[in-house]
Amino acid sequence: MKDVISIRDFTRDDMEKVLKNAHVMEGYMHGTDILEEKILATLFFEPSTRTRLSFESAMKRLGGKVIGFSESGSSSVAKGESLQDTIRTAEQYSDIIVIRHPKDGAARAAAEVASIPVINAGDGANQHPTQTLLDLYTIKKELGKIDGLTIGLMGDLKYGRTVHSLVYALSWYSVDLQFLSPPGLELPVYIKEHLSEKSVKFTEISRMEDINVDVLYVTRIQKERFPDIEEYEKVKGSYCITLESLDYIKKAIILHPLPRVDEISPEIDRTPNALYFRQARNGVPVRMGLLASLLGWNQ
Ligand code: CP
Repeated sequence: MKDVISIRDFTRDDMEKVLKNAHVMEGYMHGTDILEEKILATLFFEPSTRTRLSFESAMKRLGGKVIGFSESGSSSVAKGESLQDTIRTAEQYSDIIVIRHPKDGAARAAAEVASIPVINAGDGANQHPTQTLLDLYTIKKELGKIDGLTIGLMGDLKYGRTVHSLVYALSWYSVDLQFLSPPGLELPVYIKEHLSEKSVKFTEISRMEDINVDVLYVTRIQKERFPDIEEYEKVKGSYCITLESLDYIKKAIILHPLPRVDEISPEIDRTPNALYFRQARNGVPVRMGLLASLLGWNQ
Protein backbone atom coordinates (compact mmCIF):
# COMPACT_ATOMS: atom_id res chain seq x y z
CA MET A 1 0.00 0.00 0.00
CA LYS A 2 1.54 3.35 -1.05
CA ASP A 3 -0.95 5.62 0.73
CA VAL A 4 -3.39 5.56 3.66
CA ILE A 5 -6.49 7.33 2.38
CA SER A 6 -9.56 5.38 3.45
CA ILE A 7 -10.15 2.53 5.84
CA ARG A 8 -12.16 1.02 2.99
CA ASP A 9 -8.85 0.28 1.24
CA PHE A 10 -7.90 -2.03 4.15
CA THR A 11 -8.74 -5.68 4.57
CA ARG A 12 -8.95 -7.20 8.02
CA ASP A 13 -5.44 -8.65 7.50
CA ASP A 14 -4.12 -5.18 6.59
CA MET A 15 -5.60 -3.73 9.77
CA GLU A 16 -4.27 -6.56 11.94
CA LYS A 17 -0.78 -5.96 10.47
CA VAL A 18 -0.99 -2.29 11.51
CA LEU A 19 -2.01 -3.31 15.04
CA LYS A 20 0.94 -5.73 15.23
CA ASN A 21 3.34 -3.03 14.00
CA ALA A 22 1.97 -0.62 16.61
CA HIS A 23 2.67 -3.20 19.29
CA VAL A 24 6.27 -3.51 18.04
CA MET A 25 6.58 0.29 18.05
CA GLU A 26 5.70 0.39 21.77
CA GLY A 27 9.27 -0.89 22.19
CA TYR A 28 10.67 2.13 20.32
CA MET A 29 8.74 4.85 22.16
CA HIS A 30 12.00 6.01 23.79
CA GLY A 31 13.50 6.64 20.32
CA THR A 32 15.15 4.87 17.39
CA ASP A 33 16.90 5.76 14.11
CA ILE A 34 14.57 3.72 11.83
CA LEU A 35 13.59 6.88 9.86
CA GLU A 36 16.80 8.86 10.29
CA GLU A 37 17.19 11.29 7.36
CA LYS A 38 13.49 11.03 6.44
CA ILE A 39 11.25 14.10 6.49
CA LEU A 40 7.51 14.21 7.14
CA ALA A 41 5.45 17.12 5.77
CA THR A 42 2.30 17.83 7.81
CA LEU A 43 -0.17 19.86 5.75
CA PHE A 44 -3.07 20.79 8.02
CA PHE A 45 -5.76 22.87 6.33
CA GLU A 46 -8.02 22.34 9.39
CA PRO A 47 -7.34 22.60 13.14
CA SER A 48 -5.91 19.61 14.99
CA THR A 49 -4.27 18.86 18.31
CA ARG A 50 -3.96 15.08 18.59
CA THR A 51 -3.48 14.00 14.99
CA ARG A 52 -0.82 16.58 14.13
CA LEU A 53 1.07 16.35 17.42
CA SER A 54 1.01 12.55 17.54
CA PHE A 55 2.29 12.33 13.94
CA GLU A 56 5.07 14.76 14.87
CA SER A 57 5.85 12.81 18.02
CA ALA A 58 5.82 9.54 16.05
CA MET A 59 8.18 10.85 13.36
CA LYS A 60 10.60 12.30 15.91
CA ARG A 61 10.66 9.10 17.96
CA LEU A 62 11.56 7.27 14.72
CA GLY A 63 14.55 9.58 14.24
CA GLY A 64 12.97 11.60 11.40
CA LYS A 65 12.24 15.28 10.99
CA VAL A 66 9.00 17.23 10.49
CA ILE A 67 8.11 20.29 8.40
CA GLY A 68 4.68 21.71 7.63
CA PHE A 69 1.93 24.14 8.45
CA SER A 70 -1.02 23.99 10.80
CA GLU A 71 -3.29 26.53 9.13
CA SER A 72 -3.78 27.11 5.44
CA GLY A 73 -3.60 30.89 5.97
CA SER A 74 0.14 30.56 6.57
CA SER A 75 0.72 28.68 3.29
CA SER A 76 0.52 29.92 -0.31
CA VAL A 77 -3.02 28.49 -0.49
CA ALA A 78 -3.97 31.91 0.92
CA LYS A 79 -2.60 33.37 -2.35
CA GLY A 80 -4.75 31.05 -4.44
CA GLU A 81 -2.41 28.08 -4.92
CA SER A 82 -4.22 24.83 -5.75
CA LEU A 83 -4.10 21.72 -3.58
CA GLN A 84 -2.35 19.88 -6.41
CA ASP A 85 0.42 22.47 -6.68
CA THR A 86 0.83 22.52 -2.90
CA ILE A 87 1.30 18.75 -2.89
CA ARG A 88 3.72 18.81 -5.87
CA THR A 89 5.76 21.39 -3.98
CA ALA A 90 5.66 19.65 -0.57
CA GLU A 91 6.97 16.45 -2.13
CA GLN A 92 10.11 18.30 -3.26
CA TYR A 93 10.96 18.82 0.42
CA SER A 94 9.81 15.63 2.10
CA ASP A 95 9.54 11.83 1.94
CA ILE A 96 5.95 11.43 3.16
CA ILE A 97 2.92 13.74 3.50
CA VAL A 98 0.17 13.81 6.13
CA ILE A 99 -2.79 15.94 5.07
CA ARG A 100 -5.95 17.15 6.83
CA HIS A 101 -8.43 19.05 4.70
CA PRO A 102 -12.06 20.22 5.08
CA LYS A 103 -13.14 18.80 1.70
CA ASP A 104 -14.24 15.17 1.33
CA GLY A 105 -11.88 13.47 -1.14
CA ALA A 106 -9.02 15.97 -0.76
CA ALA A 107 -6.58 13.33 0.54
CA ARG A 108 -7.37 11.03 -2.41
CA ALA A 109 -6.82 13.97 -4.80
CA ALA A 110 -3.48 14.68 -3.08
CA ALA A 111 -2.37 11.05 -3.38
CA GLU A 112 -3.20 11.04 -7.09
CA VAL A 113 -0.65 13.76 -7.82
CA ALA A 114 1.99 12.80 -5.24
CA SER A 115 4.85 10.43 -6.02
CA ILE A 116 5.53 9.95 -2.29
CA PRO A 117 3.18 8.33 0.28
CA VAL A 118 0.19 10.39 1.45
CA ILE A 119 -1.68 9.75 4.72
CA ASN A 120 -5.19 11.10 5.24
CA ALA A 121 -5.43 12.82 8.63
CA GLY A 122 -9.15 13.55 8.07
CA ASP A 123 -11.00 14.81 4.96
CA GLY A 124 -14.25 16.64 5.64
CA ALA A 125 -16.98 14.37 6.99
CA ASN A 126 -15.57 11.48 4.99
CA GLN A 127 -12.75 9.46 6.58
CA HIS A 128 -10.11 9.50 9.33
CA PRO A 129 -8.39 6.15 8.84
CA THR A 130 -5.46 6.56 11.25
CA GLN A 131 -7.91 7.48 14.04
CA THR A 132 -9.76 4.25 13.32
CA LEU A 133 -6.57 2.21 13.49
CA LEU A 134 -5.74 3.69 16.89
CA ASP A 135 -9.33 3.08 18.01
CA LEU A 136 -9.04 -0.60 17.05
CA TYR A 137 -5.62 -0.80 18.72
CA THR A 138 -7.07 0.67 21.92
CA ILE A 139 -10.00 -1.76 22.00
CA LYS A 140 -7.74 -4.75 21.40
CA LYS A 141 -5.15 -3.56 23.93
CA GLU A 142 -7.74 -2.91 26.63
CA LEU A 143 -10.14 -5.81 26.07
CA GLY A 144 -7.85 -8.33 24.36
CA LYS A 145 -10.15 -8.79 21.35
CA ILE A 146 -12.56 -7.12 18.95
CA ASP A 147 -14.58 -10.13 17.78
CA GLY A 148 -17.52 -10.88 20.04
CA LEU A 149 -17.89 -7.37 21.45
CA THR A 150 -20.94 -5.15 21.49
CA ILE A 151 -19.87 -1.65 20.54
CA GLY A 152 -22.02 1.46 20.88
CA LEU A 153 -21.49 4.60 18.84
CA MET A 154 -23.11 7.68 20.29
CA GLY A 155 -23.32 11.27 19.10
CA ASP A 156 -23.09 12.89 15.70
CA LEU A 157 -23.14 9.81 13.50
CA LYS A 158 -24.04 11.83 10.41
CA TYR A 159 -21.06 14.16 10.15
CA GLY A 160 -18.51 12.31 12.34
CA ARG A 161 -15.76 11.01 10.05
CA THR A 162 -14.21 9.00 12.88
CA VAL A 163 -17.50 7.14 13.24
CA HIS A 164 -17.77 6.48 9.51
CA SER A 165 -14.24 5.06 9.33
CA LEU A 166 -14.68 3.00 12.50
CA VAL A 167 -17.97 1.45 11.37
CA TYR A 168 -16.41 0.36 8.07
CA ALA A 169 -13.46 -1.16 9.93
CA LEU A 170 -15.69 -2.97 12.43
CA SER A 171 -17.67 -4.48 9.58
CA TRP A 172 -14.70 -6.87 9.12
CA TYR A 173 -15.22 -8.19 12.64
CA SER A 174 -17.86 -10.26 14.35
CA VAL A 175 -19.43 -7.48 16.42
CA ASP A 176 -22.85 -6.18 17.41
CA LEU A 177 -23.28 -2.44 16.97
CA GLN A 178 -25.64 -0.05 18.77
CA PHE A 179 -26.19 3.47 17.42
CA LEU A 180 -27.52 6.38 19.47
CA SER A 181 -27.73 9.88 18.00
CA PRO A 182 -29.86 13.03 18.27
CA PRO A 183 -32.69 13.13 15.68
CA GLY A 184 -31.31 14.12 12.28
CA LEU A 185 -27.75 13.01 13.07
CA GLU A 186 -28.22 9.30 12.38
CA LEU A 187 -25.63 7.19 10.59
CA PRO A 188 -25.94 7.72 6.79
CA VAL A 189 -28.10 5.15 5.00
CA TYR A 190 -25.27 4.09 2.67
CA ILE A 191 -23.19 2.98 5.68
CA LYS A 192 -26.13 1.06 7.16
CA GLU A 193 -26.59 -0.63 3.78
CA HIS A 194 -22.92 -1.62 3.86
CA LEU A 195 -23.44 -3.18 7.30
CA SER A 196 -26.43 -5.13 6.02
CA GLU A 197 -24.42 -6.38 3.01
CA LYS A 198 -21.71 -7.59 5.41
CA SER A 199 -24.34 -9.16 7.73
CA VAL A 200 -23.26 -7.04 10.70
CA LYS A 201 -25.92 -6.92 13.40
CA PHE A 202 -26.85 -3.37 14.40
CA THR A 203 -29.62 -1.62 16.28
CA GLU A 204 -30.55 2.04 16.48
CA ILE A 205 -31.67 3.13 19.95
CA SER A 206 -33.08 6.45 21.06
CA ARG A 207 -32.50 6.48 24.84
CA MET A 208 -29.26 6.30 26.79
CA GLU A 209 -31.03 3.96 29.21
CA ASP A 210 -31.07 1.31 26.46
CA ILE A 211 -27.29 1.21 26.04
CA ASN A 212 -25.91 -2.27 26.64
CA VAL A 213 -22.35 -2.45 25.36
CA ASP A 214 -18.73 -3.42 26.07
CA VAL A 215 -17.36 -0.30 24.40
CA LEU A 216 -19.08 3.09 24.15
CA TYR A 217 -17.57 5.35 21.48
CA VAL A 218 -18.77 8.91 22.03
CA THR A 219 -18.36 11.81 19.61
CA ARG A 220 -19.07 15.54 19.76
CA ILE A 221 -21.56 17.25 17.48
CA GLN A 222 -19.52 18.40 14.48
CA LYS A 223 -20.63 22.06 14.52
CA GLU A 224 -18.27 23.02 11.67
CA ARG A 225 -19.96 20.58 9.23
CA PHE A 226 -23.53 21.90 9.59
CA PRO A 227 -24.62 23.80 6.48
CA ASP A 228 -27.14 25.71 8.64
CA ILE A 229 -26.09 26.92 12.11
CA GLU A 230 -29.76 26.94 13.22
CA GLU A 231 -29.84 23.17 12.73
CA TYR A 232 -26.80 22.90 15.00
CA GLU A 233 -28.47 25.05 17.68
CA LYS A 234 -31.41 22.58 17.75
CA VAL A 235 -29.20 19.62 18.74
CA LYS A 236 -26.42 21.39 20.66
CA GLY A 237 -25.97 20.00 24.18
CA SER A 238 -28.62 17.31 23.63
CA TYR A 239 -26.62 14.51 25.30
CA CYS A 240 -24.03 14.19 28.02
CA ILE A 241 -22.44 11.25 29.83
CA THR A 242 -22.52 11.96 33.57
CA LEU A 243 -21.85 9.83 36.66
CA GLU A 244 -25.58 8.92 36.62
CA SER A 245 -25.16 7.52 33.09
CA LEU A 246 -22.85 4.85 34.51
CA ASP A 247 -26.02 3.09 35.75
CA TYR A 248 -26.56 2.14 32.08
CA ILE A 249 -22.98 2.11 30.87
CA LYS A 250 -21.88 -0.12 33.76
CA LYS A 251 -18.36 -1.44 33.10
CA ALA A 252 -18.16 -0.49 29.42
CA ILE A 253 -15.02 1.34 28.41
CA ILE A 254 -15.68 4.85 27.13
CA LEU A 255 -13.71 6.00 24.09
CA HIS A 256 -13.82 9.38 22.35
CA PRO A 257 -11.64 10.55 19.46
CA LEU A 258 -11.57 14.00 21.13
CA PRO A 259 -11.82 16.96 21.19
CA ARG A 260 -14.61 16.84 23.75
CA VAL A 261 -17.02 19.74 24.03
CA ASP A 262 -19.85 18.96 26.50
CA GLU A 263 -20.80 15.34 25.72
CA ILE A 264 -18.77 13.74 28.52
CA SER A 265 -18.80 15.39 31.92
CA PRO A 266 -15.24 15.88 33.30
CA GLU A 267 -16.28 13.93 36.43
CA ILE A 268 -16.22 10.80 34.23
CA ASP A 269 -12.47 11.29 33.66
CA ARG A 270 -11.70 9.89 37.11
CA THR A 271 -13.67 6.68 36.57
CA PRO A 272 -12.16 3.41 35.30
CA ASN A 273 -14.50 3.63 32.30
CA ALA A 274 -12.72 6.65 30.87
CA LEU A 275 -10.03 5.59 28.42
CA TYR A 276 -10.04 8.50 25.97
CA PHE A 277 -6.71 10.00 27.01
CA ARG A 278 -5.01 6.58 26.86
CA GLN A 279 -6.66 6.21 23.44
CA ALA A 280 -5.07 9.51 22.32
CA ARG A 281 -1.68 8.29 23.52
CA ASN A 282 -2.06 5.15 21.39
CA GLY A 283 -1.98 7.40 18.32
CA VAL A 284 1.79 7.54 18.66
CA PRO A 285 2.75 3.85 18.27
CA VAL A 286 0.06 3.33 15.64
CA ARG A 287 1.31 6.29 13.57
CA MET A 288 4.93 5.25 14.13
CA GLY A 289 4.11 1.87 12.60
CA LEU A 290 2.32 3.46 9.63
CA LEU A 291 5.09 5.97 8.89
CA ALA A 292 7.79 3.32 9.18
CA SER A 293 6.05 0.72 7.01
CA LEU A 294 5.08 3.25 4.29
CA LEU A 295 8.74 4.28 4.16
CA GLY A 296 9.97 0.74 3.69
CA TRP A 297 10.55 -0.56 7.24
CA ASN A 298 9.94 -4.25 7.69
CA GLN A 299 10.19 -5.79 11.12
N1 CP B 1 -9.10 12.86 17.07
C1 CP B 1 -8.69 13.91 16.33
O1 CP B 1 -8.65 13.87 15.09
O2 CP B 1 -8.28 14.98 17.08
P1 CP B 1 -7.69 16.32 16.47
O3 CP B 1 -8.77 16.97 15.67
O4 CP B 1 -7.25 17.13 17.67
O5 CP B 1 -6.53 15.94 15.59
